[in-house]
Order: sequence, then C-alpha cells, then structure tokens
Amino acid sequence: MSAVIYPTTNLKATEQMVIERGEGVYVYDNQGKQYLEALSGLWCTGLGYGNRELIDCISEQLEKLSFTHMFGGKTHQPGIDLADKLAAMVPVKDAKVFFGNSGSDANDSHMKLLRYYFNAIGRPEKRKIITRERAYHGVTVAAGSLTSLPATASAVSPCRRPLTRPPETDLPL
Ligand SMILES: Cc1ncc(COP(=O)(O)O)c(C=O)c1O
Repeated sequence: MSAVIYPTTNLKATEQMVIERGEGVYVYDNQGKQYLEALSGLWCTGLGYGNRELIDCISEQLEKLSFTHMFGGKTHQPGIDLADKLAAMVPVKDAKVFFGNSGSDANDSHMKLLRYYFNAIGRPEKRKIITRERAYHGVTVAAGSLTSLPATASAVSPCRRPLTRPPETDLPL
C-alpha cells in the first residue's frame, strides 16, 4: 500500500486500478486496458484528454505566469477575462463571478455570502439552510454538513464551531 490517503474510499480496497494516460473520451490503465471515462474525471475533464487547443493554451500561460492570487486587490488579466466571459453567458443582469476551487468550496462560499448578506442587511438571525435527505453537497466541513450520506456524516455533521480562538499571531496583510 502506498502513502496516499484516498478520498471517499474504503481504506481496505485501494489501488485497484492505476490510470496512466488519456486520449479523447478514453483513459488507459497501466495494463493498457481502455475505459470510457464517462465521469469526466469527476467533472474536471469535461473537455476530454489530449485536447490540443487546451494543451497549447495551458502551456502558453504556464510559460508566462503559472500562478498568482487574487487577494487584497491583486489580480490578473486571464482571471478578469474569464469572469467577464462567464458573466456574459449566464441569464443574470450585471452578473459577478467568484472563483473557487471545487464544488465543495463553491457551497462553502454560498454559505459565507448568505451570512455576509444577511448580516449586512441587519438580519443576522437568518441562518437556516434546508438540505434534503441523501443530498450530496461536497466534503468540506461546511458543505459536508449539508451532505447527508452516511459515509460523510460521521466526519463532519452536524457542523458546529469546534474551535477556540487563541490570540492572533503577527500576520501583516
Ligand atoms: C451537487 C454537488 N455539490 C457539490 C459537489 C462537490 O464538488 P467537489 O467534488 O468539486 O468538491 C458535487 C460533486 O459531486 C456535487 O455533485
């Protein structure tokens, strides 16, 4: 067994299939067996594998600037361009875009934005969120507490504030 802790996996049944490469809508394991990747890599590879336009675009951007953040007034043009493009695609007037890392993070962000909004309009008591039985909303502490599946429930639900707050350390921003 390797050192990897696998998410949402029975720890006694790991490493049954090692995927080595992808092409179009197919992936291939390390024995050369072909599979139709119908889950799109859990929704992360919807544009397929070996997509030349995507490879060229990513390579070009990696050469120029591989990463920079958007905190505290810093930004970058590709992020601005993507937000404008997405905003123009959705049926919402003057739409704004908030980037996240995943579906779980998106749901955490929804919860934060709702709390921010109701605090801002003077209704901080508005805290209730309705979620359905057997719903899946992600795996972070907040989104995971909305998920109501037995496999995730014991780790995160119900979501309470488990933290104490020691004094802050000096972190200049
Ligand atoms: C409805 C729904 N919400 C949230 C998530 C969590 O997304 P992620 O796996 O990107 O954190 C998923 C992923 O399957 C989902 O289907």
